[in-house]
Amino acid sequence: MMKSTLSVTTVDDTARIARVIAAELRPRDVLLLTGDLGAGKTTFTKALCAALGITETVTSPTFNLVHEYVGGRLTVVHCDLYRLERTGELDDLALDEARRRGAVLVVEWGDLVPDAFDDALVVGFEHAAGDARTVTVSWRGSNWEARFVRLSDRLQVGTTT
Ligand SMILES: Nc1ncnc2c1ncn2[C@@H]1O[C@H](COP(=O)(O)OP(=O)(O)OP(=O)(O)O)[C@@H](O)[C@H]1O
Ligand SMILES: [Mg+2]
Repeated sequence: MMKSTLSVTTVDDTARIARVIAAELRPRDVLLLTGDLGAGKTTFTKALCAALGITETVTSPTFNLVHEYVGGRLTVVHCDLYRLERTGELDDLALDEARRRGAVLVVEWGDLVPDAFDDALVVGFEHAAGDARTVTVSWRGSNWEARFVRLSDRLQVGTTT
């Protein structure tokens, strides 16, 4: 299991990471975004959608839990599981159906249901000193394995095992 750890200080740095990841995305990919409240998950999603050519304004899916954005290179289904009250509610979000249509899933608080997504790129955000963030990129399942080395190179950071 390899992991890339990056220190970022600004929203622009986060946007650069999002652009690198966006360039690697294929239909049906899953991105799990982890990290505390305000760590930068939605900020990342906004930049990712922009990089895919989505012009619609991306907002936090806090109340309706799931938003879908079309018009870019790929359709993005963006959800936030923080307010998911029962795991059973996950089924109501129809994420599997969206994937079957070829959408990319971007899941904030995806770690709240650890068994739901077994093949995913995991992007973690942590608060660091000042306004800075530490971003960790890792993967689970076979879907990202082959792409991860190249992705790490493009993120221009050391890869640790
Ligand atoms: N890399 C960064 N550097 C500095 N500030 C950042 C960075 N990323 C995000 N922020 C700022 O942190 C604030 C919260 O970010 P954001 O809404 O993306 O967090 P979140 O992880 O989605 O939170 P929540 O769990 O509540 O959905 C925003 O004001 C944003 O501008
Ligand atoms: Mg958010």
